[in-house]
Amino acid sequence: MTQKQLDESTAYLQSKGFDKPEIGIVLGTGLGKLADEIENSIEAHYNHIPFFPLATVEFHSGKLLYGTLENKKVVVMQGRFHLYEGYDFIDVTYPIRVMHQLGIQKLFISNAAGAVNLSFKKGDMMLIEDHINLQGGSPLAFKGVGKFGDRFTDMAEPYDPNLRGKLIDIAKSENIKLHRGVYASVVGPQLETKAEYRMLKIIGADAVGMSTVPEVIVANHLRLPIVAVSVLTDECDPDHLDPVNIQEIIEIASKTEPKMVKLFKELIKKI
Ligand code: HPA
Repeated sequence: MTQKQLDESTAYLQSKGFDKPEIGIVLGTGLGKLADEIENSIEAHYNHIPFFPLATVEFHSGKLLYGTLENKKVVVMQGRFHLYEGYDFIDVTYPIRVMHQLGIQKLFISNAAGAVNLSFKKGDMMLIEDHINLQGGSPLAFKGVGKFGDRFTDMAEPYDPNLRGKLIDIAKSENIKLHRGVYASVVGPQLETKAEYRMLKIIGADAVGMSTVPEVIVANHLRLPIVAVSVLTDECDPDHLDPVNIQEIIEIASKTEPKMVKLFKELIKKI
């Protein structure tokens, strides 16, 4: 990744009309419908954006959308890149750097995750307050990272307290159940073993998933305030572990999605 590449990606999107978005939104697995609510939307397929990671076959629908949502200019990633697809940390976080160059001042992230905390149920949502990186690497471990921001990026408060507070208030006033907790990121794509779920619980995770943490690290590198929500799609009980059904995960994510959309839209109104 070079500055020149980022400039070319940004210039391409600007030439398509992506004009100074204020908020960037990443939509997770089964959570793409927020895109339908964007007004006057313009879209750019990932495969057409210069220097974007080359999309795999299963990922052909990935696109970046621009438009207005609750009267604010937004850029939305419909589909994200995962390490488990064979992308590296730089690939996975490249779109975050491009959205930052386009001008976003805040980043909203969503994902589908498994509930490690057994008082959380599938179909519930969790506001991510902190995370544990179990992906075995960092998107900041490259030569010349200092040209883009601090190498030793502080991670004392990676999820913006102000945005978190606002989202908690919104959830209360809208009567939407919103747990709070720690998200652990793994590479995947295999699911966890019972022993791994036990470990995740012991080390303090409330949810586990295969995304988000690289993007959050880069957003902190760029000093971009973040709010992130996990939609809990399955319960990871090591003593009563049902085989995970990816179809069911997507179904539960879709069923829960309207509540997530509501939270994000109300938050946009309040910032
Ligand atoms: N692990 C377990 N369950 C999940 C995950 C995961 O990474 N993602 C969604 N449900």
